[in-house]
Amino acid sequence: MAKRNWPPDEGFSGYFHTDRPAEDAELTHVEPGTPGGEFLRRFWQPVAMAREIDDMPLRVRLLGEDLVLFRDGGGRWGLVHRNCVHRRAPMEYARPEERGLRCCYHGWLFDVDGTLLEAPLEPADSKLPGNLCQPAYPVREYRGLVFAYLGPPDERPPFPIFDTYEIPGGEMVPFAIDIECNWLQITENSIDPSHTVYLHTRSYGTQFFETWGEAPLLDFHEREHGFMFTSTRRVGDHVWVRSQDLLLPNMTQGGTVSTGDGKTPRAFARSGYTRWQTPLDTRHTRIMGWRHFNDISDPFEQGLDDPAVIEAQEIGEIRARPWEERRRNPGDYEIFLGLGPVSIHAKERLASTDRGVAMLRRKLRKGIRALAAGEVPARPGGDEFQPIPSFGGDTVVRAPKPGNGGDEALMREIATKVTDLYFDGADRSLAERRAMVADAFNLG
Ligand code: FES
Ligand SMILES: [Fe+2]
Repeated sequence: MAKRNWPPDEGFSGYFHTDRPAEDAELTHVEPGTPGGEFLRRFWQPVAMAREIDDMPLRVRLLGEDLVLFRDGGGRWGLVHRNCVHRRAPMEYARPEERGLRCCYHGWLFDVDGTLLEAPLEPADSKLPGNLCQPAYPVREYRGLVFAYLGPPDERPPFPIFDTYEIPGGEMVPFAIDIECNWLQITENSIDPSHTVYLHTRSYGTQFFETWGEAPLLDFHEREHGFMFTSTRRVGDHVWVRSQDLLLPNMTQGGTVSTGDGKTPRAFARSGYTRWQTPLDTRHTRIMGWRHFNDISDPFEQGLDDPAVIEAQEIGEIRARPWEERRRNPGDYEIFLGLGPVSIHAKERLASTDRGVAMLRRKLRKGIRALAAGEVPARPGGDEFQPIPSFGGDTVVRAPKPGNGGDEALMREIATKVTDLYFDGADRSLAERRAMVADAFNLG
């Protein structure tokens, strides 16, 4: 990127800062044919919650494409371009049949892979059926979310199954939140955990837990598919290490949600959510994922039946709040929108807490450019150990503050040890990984 030539930093310098640099199109634009859009198309993306689809097709958008999602009478999922290949009738009015989807305009019937099965008004010997296809994409339903792969068929990766999907006795509840801005500024909010101190706690009062108001020590670890990063805080006689995952391009997992106050000793309580910041287009995003409920992280009674908790898994992402409340107690949603439809990176002044944001942009840009040069990106779920290990969660250990001012060193030591244990145990079961952490810190 071109180096900015900033005007001198001095008072009353507004006049010198009225330039309007361009969006960082390489990273943020998602439409077909854009470098970032090509990269995003190499990964499975959630497109809807299964419960949104009834016996009729649903018009959806994904990566700047107008599409129609449906389930045929045989229970098979299909995702096709919105306009019929014949004369472009909108397929959200098409009728799902026992096998495939029948366009309402002239009755052409398409299989879930787009193959034309029947063209009833054409002559009986028409060569069209079997030789013509409605453009379509592969779809996979998994635990109430419907995923699609929009990339080239020969580069389709296996559908990745993460370890957080297999927490014993756990329940996964799908959610979706529409946000009217670019996907990257929402994703970057995750890898900027220091915003919890002010936005969620000190600025206008506690939105989650008062312990979030303590400034954390931050560590960012680059991994093959993305990042694992930790926020470490002192909470009374305890040290709390909260870890998060960000997998390229747009998947994130945090720590626990309803029990994430760092006060109770615990060994690797896993993420309260898995989510994707799915671009509908460059200026619209749908956050989709699951809330995880289980006995060791977020207990069932903490919201399983409360749609507000499920769908706005962070208070800051609740949209439908009165303006007076929003202006006096802004959350993530107000920040996302206030950054503009696509935040202008050239107008930022990144600082020490933004190390993760800078690392993410570098890795993403590198991946986008490598793909443009012909390299297929590394994607989780290839030949690796399955389920794919991830690292989001909370560990809280008893470690009273040393009297000699060595608290920061102690906290760093604990954070390093926790991280090493997580990485060392990556190919083990969750029970074994938890036992490793419990043993190392006498957590019983
Ligand atoms: S436009 Fe779809 S069948 Fe004619
Ligand atoms: Fe937040």
